Amino acid sequence: MTEVTALMPAAGRGERFDSRTNKLWVEIGGRPVLGWSLSAFENHPRVRAIVVAADEDNLPRVRRLQAQFHKLITVVPGGRTRAESVKRALDAAPGSSEILLVHDAARPAVSTGLIDRVIDGAERWGACIPALPISDTVKRVDGSNTILETVPREIAAEKIAWRLFTVQTPQGFRCDRLHRAYDHLLRLGGQVTDDSGLAEAAGIEVKVVAGEPNNVKLTNPADLNDLVRILAPRWARSGIGYDVHRLGADRPLVLGGVTISHGAGLIGHSDADVLIHAICDALLGAAALGDIGYHFPDDDEANRNRPSLEFLGEVKTILQKAGWNPHNVDATLLAEAPKVAPYRAEMQRNVAQVLGIDEGCVSIKATTSEKMGFVGRREGMACWAIATIIPI
Ligand code: CTP
Ligand code: MG
Repeated sequence: MTEVTALMPAAGRGERFDSRTNKLWVEIGGRPVLGWSLSAFENHPRVRAIVVAADEDNLPRVRRLQAQFHKLITVVPGGRTRAESVKRALDAAPGSSEILLVHDAARPAVSTGLIDRVIDGAERWGACIPALPISDTVKRVDGSNTILETVPREIAAEKIAWRLFTVQTPQGFRCDRLHRAYDHLLRLGGQVTDDSGLAEAAGIEVKVVAGEPNNVKLTNPADLNDLVRILAPRWARSGIGYDVHRLGADRPLVLGGVTISHGAGLIGHSDADVLIHAICDALLGAAALGDIGYHFPDDDEANRNRPSLEFLGEVKTILQKAGWNPHNVDATLLAEAPKVAPYRAEMQRNVAQVLGIDEGCVSIKATTSEKMGFVGRREGMACWAIATIIPI
C-alpha cells in the first residue's frame, strides 16, 4: 500500500474569524475544529501519518492531542505564512512518505470519500486537488464597490477551452512533486495561497477532482453555523421509548393525535395516546432528560384528558432548552385492531408538525400480536419508538 502522510498547517492567527479566539480551538459538538480535522485523517485507512504545524503558543496543546490521535507523529512550529508552515511540516514528514496530502486544519468536515479521491488522483497523475466549478456569475469589483468587469466563467473556444473553479484541500502530491514545488517557495513567497500554486509555478501539471460543498473552510464567523449544521449528524444521539395502555369501552381512541372510532379507547390520565407517549420517551431518552412520567405526572390535575400532542410540543421545548433538536422518529404500534394504515399519513403529519421536522423524518408503523398476549387479547395496546436528536 502506498505510504500516505497528511501535512496539516494549523499555525494561522484566524484573523478574519475573531482575533481573540483561535478558530481551530472553537468546539463543535464538544470537539475542537482541529480535532475534527485530525480525526478525518486518523480514521482514514489509507493515511499512515499526520504532521501538524502549530503556532508556538499552542504547541504543547497540540502535542497533548497525540495521546488521542496515534497517527499524529510530529508537531512542528509553524511559520509566518501558510506556505512556510507547510514547508516546515514537509521537512518533518517521514522519509518513507510516497503521497503527501496538505490539508487546512480549518476544514474540519472533509469526508473520507474526498480524501480517497485525492489519494487516487495523486497516485494516478502525481498532483491533484479538489475543486468545485463556479456556478455563480463572477465580477471583478474595485475598492469603491464599482464593477469593473464580468469575468467569464467558461470559454468553450476550440483552442482555449477553460472553466473557473474554486479549490479546496486536501491537495495531494507524489512526494518528489511537492518537494519540487516547495523549492519555489523562497522565490514566490507570499504570493501563493495554496500548494497547487507553487506546483504550477514549478511547471508541474496538477489535475482537479470533485471537491465537496460541505468541505467548508472556517474563515469568517458565519462559516461556523454551516459547519455546525454539516457536522451535527456526526454527533447525533438516539433514545428508545416504550409505553402500554389498557383498552376500555366508552373511551375515545386517540393514536398519533388522530381520534379513531373503534368502540373502545385507551385508558389513562391524559388522552392515553400510547404512540405519542412512546415518542416523547424516546426523545427525552435521547437527551437523557428523564421520561414522560417525570415531566407530566399523572397525579397532576392539569394533565387530565390533555391531548398528548401538547406533551410532545413541550418535550420539544425541553429538548431545545438543553440544546437539542429532534431529527427523526420511528415508531411501531402493537395493536390487534384497528388497521392503522388509513390514519398513518395524518399521524405522521401531526408528529412532524409539532416537532417542526420534515414529514419524511417521521415513520409510524403497526403490527398485530397474532392474537397472543395482552395485545392479542385486545386488552391493551403498546408502542415502541426510537428517536434521534441533533445539537441545535
Ligand atoms: N496557516 C498556518 N500558518 C500560517 C497561516 C495559516 O499554518 N502562518 C494555516 C491555518 O491555521 C489554516 C490554514 O493555514 O488551517 C488555512 O489558512 P486560513 O484559513 O487563512 O487561516 P488563518 O490564516 O488562520 O486565518 P486568517 O487568514 O483569517 O488570519
Ligand atoms: Mg490566512
